[in-house]
Formats: sequence, structure tokens, C-alpha cells
Amino acid sequence: MADRLVDTLERTLAARAADGLARRRRVVEARAGARVVVDGRELVGFASNDYLGLSTDPALAEAAAAAARRWGVGAAASHLLGGHHAPHEALESDLAAWVAPCEGARAVTFSSGYLANLAIVSTLADRGTEVFADRLNHACLNDGALLARARLVRYPHRDAAALERRLAASRARRRLIATDAVFSMDGDVAPLAALLALAERHDAWLVVDDAHGFGVLGRGRGTLAEFHLASPRIVLMGTLGKAAGVAGAFVAAHPSVIEAIAQTARPCVFTTAAPPMLAETLRASLGLVRDGERRRARLARHVARFRAEADGLPWTMTGSTTPIQPLVVGGNREALDLARSLEERGLFVPAIRPPTVPDGTARLRVSFSAAHDDDDVGALLHALHEVARGWG
Ligand SMILES: Cc1ncc(COP(=O)(O)O)c(C=O)c1O
Repeated sequence: MADRLVDTLERTLAARAADGLARRRRVVEARAGARVVVDGRELVGFASNDYLGLSTDPALAEAAAAAARRWGVGAAASHLLGGHHAPHEALESDLAAWVAPCEGARAVTFSSGYLANLAIVSTLADRGTEVFADRLNHACLNDGALLARARLVRYPHRDAAALERRLAASRARRRLIATDAVFSMDGDVAPLAALLALAERHDAWLVVDDAHGFGVLGRGRGTLAEFHLASPRIVLMGTLGKAAGVAGAFVAAHPSVIEAIAQTARPCVFTTAAPPMLAETLRASLGLVRDGERRRARLARHVARFRAEADGLPWTMTGSTTPIQPLVVGGNREALDLARSLEERGLFVPAIRPPTVPDGTARLRVSFSAAHDDDDVGALLHALHEVARGWG
């Protein structure tokens, strides 16, 4: 009997492979800054979200070791049942003050951004709610709508006029607009001021997923700060495993939103709290984010150089000015070929394929870090131009 079940699974996997969609978890054998060792070879990585280069920062490794000695390695319980430790409380208050999405904001932390988005949407939405989502939003915002049993209404990418038409036609009891601030696979930025104006006009919540803006934009405070936006109807999610270099996520918003999430959100209530040693490490990381102007300036320099010198390559660039600089190749196999050619030249830039991106838009998601030096960026550009000469 089980044979039939296994056969079905194996046929599905074989069909994925035939479409160029088989995935492989590459084993990173060592990592320091932007350098990774994969299959015994040292490569320069252009695939991480470690925008400020903090994930292997020696000061943070020290902070983690000291925190582990002080707090041990596990939280031992959920936040509501004795797992909420002093470092969590202190981190939440530091984060709320730093990102300040509205006056008097509070924050609540999570083990991952995925859980945080599920928590926000399932707390603020229910069966009578319509969740308006940008077509290129990260999957977990959509999964939040599923958990809430809300109706998901998608609108074309960054198209505030199309969103307005959908809002105007809505008869839902409650409305929630959800958007990535910086789109994870395209690197472009949501029209947040227009979205906030629409949220006000149509009495909706505005959920902003700033996974890729926190630590980078707005002098580290994130994308809302970049555009000087704040409102009690904004619910901000930021992740702590990307620019902050550690792990986890937070939601910052009006105190009543945070209270509702902390008391009722299933991804908050029914899970063990993240280790307090990570919260303590994150407090040290937040210090480096705050003082990170030199890292951000170096990052901006890499991005500007790449955009100037990648001009003329046969792959499509997006309008992104953030550290996420995709090269859209199109076909799955072609994207894999390009990734392979770069790896042969000592560069690790894995291909991104559907369903992570829409069909026909497979790409290399090149991402930059303050851990790169000028020679790393030069090596990438040199390799891309070399591969381009023999392309197609
Ligand atoms: C836009 C966006 N939101 C949420 C997440 C989920 O965050 P986490 O990796 O902390 O679960 C990611 C990436 O993983 C992301 O890119």
C-alpha cells in the first residue's frame, strides 16, 4: 500500500525534475563574510540576505557566547507560559523605539518572519475580511490570509490605481492591504505613501513586510523611515535573520495590535519562544545596525557600480536600487546554466525558479553585502561579461 503512495510522490518529483524545477540543498561547509565553502571549493557568495555582513561578525559571535553562558540555549516554554525572558522584553522595546511605525508603538518578537506574517494577518483578518495583496508579495503574507480564512484579492505589482479599484468594489466587513516593502525577488520598492493614503481612504489596515528594508533603508530604520511614514493603521513586520544577521522577526505597531497578537495569534501562542540568547545577541546586532552608516555606504557603492557596469548584459535587470539586483533570464534551464557558469568561475549565485518567481521569469537573484569588497564585485562583473560573450 505504502508503495503506491511512494510511487506517486516519486512521479511528482520526476515531473518537477523534467521541468528544470528539481532543487538541491547545497551544503555550506564553511562561511566567513561573503565567502562560502561548497563542495570543498571556496566561492564568493552573492545569494545571501546578509546585507550588512553581520551574520559572521566576531563581536556578535562573542555576544552570543556570553548570552548562552548567562541564559543557556533554550527558552523552555512559549511566551505566555514562562518562556518570555528579560532579553525578549528588552529587545522588543529597543525595536519598537528604533522603527517607530506610529507614536507609542510596541513590538512583539517571533522565531521567524514566516510566523510573524501568519500572526499579523490571522489576528487582523477573519472570514469577513478581504486581504488585498500585491501579486509579488512573499508567500507567507498569502498564507496568513489562508490561516485567517479571509478572501485574498491580488492586485498587479505596485499598481496603486488597480488596488484602488478593487478597494472601491469591496463589500467586505474589514479590509487589509498587505505588501512587501522591498520585493524579495525583484528588489523594487512598494509605493508605500500611496498605499497608506488608500488605507486611510478605505479604512483598511496596512501591513508592511520590511524583511529586506530593515537595517538597509531609512538609515537602518527601514523603508517606512525612508519615506517618513508613520500611522496607527500601519503594522510593520521586520525580519532579524537578514540585515540583522541573526534569526527571527518582529512586529511593531499600535500597542493594541501588539497586545492582540501576543494574546491570540496562533503562531505566537502555540510555539516555544526563541532562545533568550538570540534575543540578547539581537540587541547587540541592533547596536551595529544603528551605527551601520559605513556598512550601508559600502553596500550602496557596490549596488551603484553593479548597476552601471552590468548595463548591456543580455539578461533583464529590474528597476531596483536596493541590494537585491536580479538578472532575469527567463527559462529555468537557462537560469541554471548561468548559475553553473558563474560557479565554475568561483561565484555562488543560485538560480531562482517558479514557484518562487512567476513562470518564465527564472533569474539569478544577485544580492550584495557590506561584506563584499570591491574586488568581489569586480570579479562578478567580469564573470558575467565573459559568460555573456558566449551566451545564446
Ligand atoms: C519578504 C519576506 N517576508 C518574509 C520572509 C520570511 O522571513 P523568515 O526567513 O525570517 O521566515 C522572507 C524571507 O525569508 C521574505 O523575503
